[in-house]
Amino acid sequence: PFDWYAEMRREHPVRYDDQRGRWDVFKYEDVKQIVSDHETYASDVASTDIRLVDRDFDTDRAPSMIRADPPAHGRLRNFVNSRFQPGSIAEHRARFEQIADDLLDDIDSGANVDIIDKFSHPYPVTIIADLLGLPRDDYDQFLTWSKAATELSLTGDEKAIESNKRRRARVQREMREYFSNLISERATGSGDDLITLAAMNDELTHEEKISFCLTLLIAGNVTTVNLITNALWCFEENDLFDAVRTGAVSRTKVIEEVLRYRSPAQTVRRVTTKPVELGGRRIDAGELVLARIGSANRDPARFDSPEEFRPERSPNPHIAFGGGIHFCLGAQLARLEADIALEKLLDRFEVINPDLSDLSPQTFLYGVKSFPCRLETGN
Ligand code: HEM
Repeated sequence: PFDWYAEMRREHPVRYDDQRGRWDVFKYEDVKQIVSDHETYASDVASTDIRLVDRDFDTDRAPSMIRADPPAHGRLRNFVNSRFQPGSIAEHRARFEQIADDLLDDIDSGANVDIIDKFSHPYPVTIIADLLGLPRDDYDQFLTWSKAATELSLTGDEKAIESNKRRRARVQREMREYFSNLISERATGSGDDLITLAAMNDELTHEEKISFCLTLLIAGNVTTVNLITNALWCFEENDLFDAVRTGAVSRTKVIEEVLRYRSPAQTVRRVTTKPVELGGRRIDAGELVLARIGSANRDPARFDSPEEFRPERSPNPHIAFGGGIHFCLGAQLARLEADIALEKLLDRFEVINPDLSDLSPQTFLYGVKSFPCRLETGN
């Protein structure tokens, strides 16, 4: 989509899409303005009569923080905020490393594997399962659900879409029932897992507790899978494996550049609560607005040579995690996950040889469906 973004930033930085009945916003400054001003740009898009073309990101319809406005938003988010601060997240490092090691142990040297299937997907999903405090025996089931929930995209012919919708609804029902039971069991619990934390919270309804669990799974899934895979993709294109492995290029910095250059979430949605002027255009109240963070992150008005991947770009004020009150709850978690994943992968495999010949990236949550790779350990 990046060439198209560049054209739009030049020609129609704020434009109305007649066909889809929504606004598109492409420039950094305007996108930043949207995510910073939750009073004008509300998140509860379900309250308007809007045709959501692609529901990949929010398949659950019950209220969750991501689609809530104040004051509900605070109630749905604040109770868990402290658990996602850098200090709290860092405490999990050793367990996350173990999860990565266990998955990598199952990959043979010399094998040709789809690294998404073997690693990029099971790794963050297992981590969410761990944070939620799921029983170990349920991890496989959780992974199967996560796969089903993320693979069922609403494309294809009508028949395919219908059958996908039914399957998706079934997976949703099963997951809801599963979480509903765990929440009931843990209402008087003493564990420090996130399900117990939600279960013990008197300010949330039972449905909201279920949605909370599902939101963590969904919001923290494909995005993180894509961050890890997109990083390998950028390393291959820019011949960076050795430099990152030896530390000649900082892992922390290069992860930020991957977030900017191939932002896993390309858009956020808002609905206007009042008429507003943006980029010289007037937008009425009640309009759907797509803020294209993937385009903002390549805006030459904000970044030097934005189409260049600069591993240690500094400063790097990308907005891949959004901003304002909805700033990604899992940002520090995602960063730590990527840091460990890349460290472990590069340590373990001296040769990482991806086949980039047939990648067709999805554009909404930017990334590929499979990432074939030959992996070899050193001697
Ligand atoms: C919100 C991106 C990983 C949980 C967001 C938003 C973005 C984003 C752009 C803002 C949405 C909006 O303003 O409408 C990403 C990216 C990730 C990532 C690029 C990985 C690279 C995670 C993880 C979790 C998570 C691992 C799990 C814990 C959430 C939640 C929200 C959110 C709960 C809603 C926050 C709110 O509405 O207050 N994320 N995310 N994300 N993210 Fe992430």
